[in-house]
Amino acid sequence: MTQITRRSVLKQSAALSVLPLLGSARSHAAPSNPLFTLGVASGDPLPDSVMIWTRLAPDPLNGGGMPAQNVPVRWEVAEDEAMRRIVQRGEWTARPDTAHTIRREVGGLEPGRHYWYRFNALGKESAIGRTRTAPAAAEPVERLHLAVACCQNYQHGYYTAHRHLAAEDLDLVLFVGDYIYEDGIKKDLARRHNAAEAATLEAYRNRYALYKLDPDLQAAHAAFPWAAVPDDHEVDNDYAGEHEETGAAGRTNFLARRAAAYQAYYEHLPFRPAARPLGAAMRLHRTLRFGSLATVHLLDTRQHRTPQPCGRKWSERCAAAHDPGATMLGEAQEAWLYEKFAGPAPQWTVLAQQVPIMQRRRPRDDGPDLYHTDKWDGYLAARDRLFAAVGKHDLQGLVALSGDVHNNWAGTLKANFDDPASGILGSEFVATSIASNGDGEDSKKSQRRIVDANPHIAFYNGQRGYLRCVVSPEAWRTDFRVVPYVSRPGAPVSTRASFVVERGSRRLVAG
Ligand SMILES: [Fe+2]
Repeated sequence: MTQITRRSVLKQSAALSVLPLLGSARSHAAPSNPLFTLGVASGDPLPDSVMIWTRLAPDPLNGGGMPAQNVPVRWEVAEDEAMRRIVQRGEWTARPDTAHTIRREVGGLEPGRHYWYRFNALGKESAIGRTRTAPAAAEPVERLHLAVACCQNYQHGYYTAHRHLAAEDLDLVLFVGDYIYEDGIKKDLARRHNAAEAATLEAYRNRYALYKLDPDLQAAHAAFPWAAVPDDHEVDNDYAGEHEETGAAGRTNFLARRAAAYQAYYEHLPFRPAARPLGAAMRLHRTLRFGSLATVHLLDTRQHRTPQPCGRKWSERCAAAHDPGATMLGEAQEAWLYEKFAGPAPQWTVLAQQVPIMQRRRPRDDGPDLYHTDKWDGYLAARDRLFAAVGKHDLQGLVALSGDVHNNWAGTLKANFDDPASGILGSEFVATSIASNGDGEDSKKSQRRIVDANPHIAFYNGQRGYLRCVVSPEAWRTDFRVVPYVSRPGAPVSTRASFVVERGSRRLVAG
């Protein structure tokens, strides 16, 4: 076995830095650190603990470049940015079977305050990350600042929105899916993937490495703790439970692929150990609490769902959408969520999940209306059960935060979207993409028709960006932050629209 030394890794990385960047990876960013090339991250904050993450990867796009042996990594957590007042330190082992990633739960911290952290291995130091613990349980909280982001197709554009997100003042970033895209190399886009469609652990790892080399994404991770749930592209477009997009691979092959995809996903984000995949299963649904102000339930609408009853595209509504056997969350996750609803009520109950819940009826001139049936619009019995549980527990401040569709949407959730007299259950804000679908445009005729046909929808916009949410005991404000282009770097950010929900009225008003 080769003895791994500081010198051997540094020699290797020095050699790498003079290698020409080959075709498929032509536009990837050069790492700013020879060993911690993928930056640092933190996540899933509790009042007394937070997860911190990094990976040793001197050759990130080709399997990482580490020898197949354990490497000790030291970590430190400080109360100050200069890392002078260290409050915790320790050592952990980076292992080859988890791609030399490090995830450490740092406990014994004070609630509701910033901490800074860094790693050290083989004589090299990582960048310093900043994180923040959650406020003390059941304590009153005056303000909570969240961002919601998703859909960062590397080929479609630059992560300028992440650069702006990193400059916000946030307690937490919720990332609601499509952290990577699994597909192969496409030409004539802003940037290029580094390989064909990913289906093996090695290929998914290299794809995460490509994405995480991006300096804007690294900046967003280093600035705030994140809590992430995947959508479909972390595995395969539009997959549903055990069913892949095309059906060609068969169940056994697809589950092997899903296991590889979940393993790479787990390795590259700061999940708590409870999320560690067991084969093709990964426990992603979980709850984060922010004092008595807000409880965030992160949901998984892909792993446990039954196949789309009415197809995966804009389709006519079919009878199977009403089938009570069709499920978005699966029986166990549904039962878990409704039990959470029955617990002590926070001022705001947040559902952070992938696909839009609100109805988006799309009229056409030459036939019945269409609905996008990969979303909750295709699982009507499941949506009715969710709404019945919300109604039963009389949740006062329900807010759904969703993604997936690469457009911004704001609307109210109603037990019956077709009945103007139906009461308001809560609000939903759908985050556009960071980069997916490229530059986009403010408004498109086909989408405006949806707004006009659905009185519960207040807003639509088709540019790239993220949501910034400011939460107080009295009101929830969502700012739709957008950038005018992602096909080249450097776009400015602006607030395209803001909406406010007053907790008592549940009404959504332009703010
Ligand atoms: Fe997406």
